[in-house]
Amino acid sequence: MRLKDKIVVLTGAASGIGRATARLFAKEGAIQVLSDNDEENLNETYKLINNDAKERTKITVVDVRKQNEVKSMINLAIEKYGRIDVLIVNAGVVRVGDVETFPDSDYDLLIDVNIKGTHYTCKYAVPYFKKQGYGSIITLASVAAHIGQTAHANYCSTKAAVLGYTRALALDLAPYNVRVNSVSPGATDTPMLQSDVAKQAKDRGLMYEEVKREFEEEGVMGRWATPEEIATGILFLATEESSYMTGADLRLDGGWTTR
Ligand SMILES: NC(=O)c1ccc[n+]([C@@H]2O[C@H](COP(=O)([O-])OP(=O)(O)OC[C@H]3O[C@@H](n4cnc5c(N)ncnc54)[C@H](O)[C@@H]3O)[C@@H](O)[C@H]2O)c1
Repeated sequence: MRLKDKIVVLTGAASGIGRATARLFAKEGAIQVLSDNDEENLNETYKLINNDAKERTKITVVDVRKQNEVKSMINLAIEKYGRIDVLIVNAGVVRVGDVETFPDSDYDLLIDVNIKGTHYTCKYAVPYFKKQGYGSIITLASVAAHIGQTAHANYCSTKAAVLGYTRALALDLAPYNVRVNSVSPGATDTPMLQSDVAKQAKDRGLMYEEVKREFEEEGVMGRWATPEEIATGILFLATEESSYMTGADLRLDGGWTTR
């Protein structure tokens, strides 16, 4: 087991990449605090975790936009286990559309979840990482942080922010032996991407399958990733196998950004 008895805190665990990561980490022996603001699907993730890992898994409903809830999540891990070995800042949202008609409420949501949520999650955990003198923090950026995507200006800007935040935090925490890295998935088959494709298909008067094909063709491998393929990258960054990596971004994008 690659994470035996490691204390892991993971946001956005109710779906997609977060759920796949929670399930993989459970199999690898981690002791986990899993959070999300979607209680029903968070419960479903808990059910899907292998039975022998349930005892070492806690779930907690947390909206990463709310500092008091994020603080409680971190406190839960510290009070119960005394440390956090790995923090995975995964909760995120996507909203697509042309900038001139982009609803302010959607832009606020993107900023509040993707940027502020990332900051709040790190903010309350960092003092413990500094005190411990070791650990790994992993954020979720995106190919959208590296390249432009049609109708994604607002989303792209938030993911570029995550990339910048991650790099700078890596510098701040290097003296404390804490590594901070990001993962940049390409098109990954999750409810987020499915909703993104459905919205674009509607806006452009195309069939879902047509827009899906466009996304598939962005990567040189011609297909979407499974959430499990992203989870394995997160696992690598969580273990000492990546001990010489900090401030780095792991692109798991099927070759999208190599074009
Ligand atoms: N799917 C992709 O193609 C793709 C590509 C690049 C990056 N990403 C990033 O990967 C991460 C996971 O995405 P996914 O595809 O698994 O999406 P998803 O929608 O399947 O899962 C995201 C989870 O975040 C949770 N969440 C949303 N707002 C929240 C909030 N305010 N507080 C707490 N939880 C909240 C959702 O409830 C959901 O369970 C995101 O940060 C996303 O931006 C995804």
